[in-house]
Amino acid sequence: MIPGKYDAEPLKENFRERFHAAPMLFRSPGRINIIGEHTDYNEGFVLPAAIDKAAYVAISKRNDDNIQLVSLAFNETYTCKIAEVRPLKSWTDYVLGVVDQLSKHGIAIGGFNLALDGDITIGAGLSSSAAVECSVLYALNELFALGLSKIQMVKMAQAAEHEFAGVKCGIMDQFASVFGKAAHAIQLDCRSLEYQYVPLHMEGIKIVLFNSNVSHSLASSEYNTRRQQCEQGVAWIKKYMPEVQSLRDVSLEMLQEHVLPKDTLIYKRCKYVLEENLRLLAACDDLKKGDIAALGQKMFRTHEGLSKEYEVSCTELDWLVQNVRNEKDVLGARMMGGGFGGCSINLVKENAVDALVEKVSAQYTQATGLTLSAYAVQIANGTEEIVQPGEKYAV
Ligand code: GLA
Repeated sequence: MIPGKYDAEPLKENFRERFHAAPMLFRSPGRINIIGEHTDYNEGFVLPAAIDKAAYVAISKRNDDNIQLVSLAFNETYTCKIAEVRPLKSWTDYVLGVVDQLSKHGIAIGGFNLALDGDITIGAGLSSSAAVECSVLYALNELFALGLSKIQMVKMAQAAEHEFAGVKCGIMDQFASVFGKAAHAIQLDCRSLEYQYVPLHMEGIKIVLFNSNVSHSLASSEYNTRRQQCEQGVAWIKKYMPEVQSLRDVSLEMLQEHVLPKDTLIYKRCKYVLEENLRLLAACDDLKKGDIAALGQKMFRTHEGLSKEYEVSCTELDWLVQNVRNEKDVLGARMMGGGFGGCSINLVKENAVDALVEKVSAQYTQATGLTLSAYAVQIANGTEEIVQPGEKYAV
């Protein structure tokens, strides 16, 4: 059930054969989020962690101003000039989007060869797109000695997602990918970008992802709509209270006074965000105290909010959470990430994982006709160069 470690040899081999050059190699991980969903773009709090599944990039300089790309996963190549990058609604957007950001910041680079691979399931809500953006930007930063800081790279990768992929995402995914730390979650304040690493002391408990293997097409348009709905709520309050900048500055009383009379749907959306922020802070205390049962209960409550108030779940994810609710070995579960498909995250007693996976998989297929995939995740470090022992840039 736990897939083997990623083997970078085929990526390097492919690169060498195709480009006749010695690549530098980088990885940038996907992420989970323990609690704090749809709070990041509302300047709230999140609690993500980087996982042991990543995007991998092999890269080398060219002597011209061409960009030559290959994706092993899609078995496709793409070539263009640096000055001609544009969005194509394809995997190339996550690579070229960061090149575009560099240009927009007036940062000059030369041509490069890049081979992309990875072991993050695409469309599973594990932020494979952020991982690609961050791995490419980190690689270009090293290759051309650009001197960008980690936080600059996070922000530029997020902007690439906005401008090339068209998803007005928050900062969580890119932040987690770059700043991840093995065995720790990151408690991030998305307003100040202050963060602290919280040790994931979960003795005898595994974090298990159930991938619904559905990815509804609504995901990006509804995501942007949710963001607008929250902004609308803030705008209404701001008329009376100009100091209010985001839902972070808003209280339940303000919502009741200025939003509820205007629109019950927007009220419901905003109320969820306010409650989720409070829930996250309490959940971080649970985690620090080692009270995983209390944390787990909050995850169930988050799911209810995401499903009924924020309305970003779907029948398959609701089924997955509902179905483990009464399992004594499951301490908490909820849908994770943007929603409309992807994974549920579950806190499961270690010795019960295999039996649970077997049972839920069989029932899921019976109920939906779909196949469930399950992963027990390990929490890993963030973006890094992979240097092989004994050689600076392995070939
Ligand atoms: C997606 C976005 C993140 C965040 C989550 C929901 O993963 O990329 O910025 O908003 O959804 O919490």
